Amino acid sequence: QAVRKIALLGMGTVGGGVYEIIERQKEEMPFKIGAALEVVKVLVRNKAKYADRIPAEKLTDVWEDVIGDDSIDIVVEVMGGIEPARTYIKAALEKGKHVVTANKDLMAMHGHELLELAGEHHCDLLFEAAVAGGIPIIRPLKQCLAGNNITEIMGIINGTTNFILTKMKEDGMDFGEALQLATDLGYAEADPTADIEGYDAGRKLAIMASIAFHTSVTFDDVFTEGITKITAKDMRYAKEMGCSIKLLGIAKNTETGIEVKVHPTMIPENHPLAAVNDSFNAVFVHGDAVDDAMFYGRGAGALPTGSAVVGDIMDVARNMLFHCNGRIGCSCYKNLPIKQIGD
Ligand code: NDP
Ligand code: HSE
Repeated sequence: QAVRKIALLGMGTVGGGVYEIIERQKEEMPFKIGAALEVVKVLVRNKAKYADRIPAEKLTDVWEDVIGDDSIDIVVEVMGGIEPARTYIKAALEKGKHVVTANKDLMAMHGHELLELAGEHHCDLLFEAAVAGGIPIIRPLKQCLAGNNITEIMGIINGTTNFILTKMKEDGMDFGEALQLATDLGYAEADPTADIEGYDAGRKLAIMASIAFHTSVTFDDVFTEGITKITAKDMRYAKEMGCSIKLLGIAKNTETGIEVKVHPTMIPENHPLAAVNDSFNAVFVHGDAVDDAMFYGRGAGALPTGSAVVGDIMDVARNMLFHCNGRIGCSCYKNLPIKQIGD
């Protein structure tokens, strides 16, 4: 029986979830993908932190141990940040290894470059977990909805801020307390500034807009306003007006250009997005053929995000079985103008 060998770069919240799901699904894998999956290397910075969970022979703090191991088929990048993640992913693709990543910071800034490189080397580069955690949204935009002219995407795409806003509204918790809880639950980024200032949502929006509108949108193009100025008083006023405050990401493909923005918004209580609470995310997509479609689920956390990463790993393994890796790579992008907002 074939065994697909995996290197995990990172063993934090998401890496831990991926490791657990691969273990849970061990018996199922041959039926689902015609092969077994084996994690053979785990790269971290501080090995001592992981010694009780990961066998010593798998654990390394040296990148060369990973890139120098020719038996590794799939590199799974769940460490975060731009560098060294970008360098490691490029090196893996150049060596013909398939890559799965949850890294929205990287895909929102360098996605096109990396997808082109993957295409050149006939490798898969999959990143379902980079947007909205466990919710399938990248594949639907890239494949299932590809026959549409998509004109609008709107959604709650950051679990941490949605959790904070929910706790402030429903439990009267203060901002700092709610942020600490979101961090303890593994929802927040290593630096939660990215969550609360709307940058994380902006990165996810850039990735979705690029795919949906078939053009290049990077994080720098997105207008962002976070939730740090929202007070208990704002929450009370919103409630009195029959509204909820939500951090929305909105992307539109208009006749005069692409509009991409993230900001807090008052939503009437009877709107479906008002009922999206805690760390849940929801994404609305409007296409000229499908009309409205909505995707809903857990947008952060170890197992929901691990679910998306493992789905990608299994897709790579399935493609390996049928020798069709790299089939959904980068194609020609339009060069649509991006509207400047807030100047
Ligand atoms: P964590 O901070 O929990 O874990 C990061 C892991 O990567 C740690 O094991 C860390 O090791 C390791 N690491 C970091 N930098 C390096 C490096 N330079 N060399 C080797 N190892 C390194 O992050 P998360 O698991 O929360 O997030 C990982 C990625 O997934 C990020 O891109 C994030 O944006 C994305 N993501 C996270 C979600 C979530 O719910 N948390 C959801 C969707 C995506 P050490 O402990 O030794 O430093
Ligand atoms: N920090 C992110 C969030 C993790 O809260 O949504 C999932 O991308």
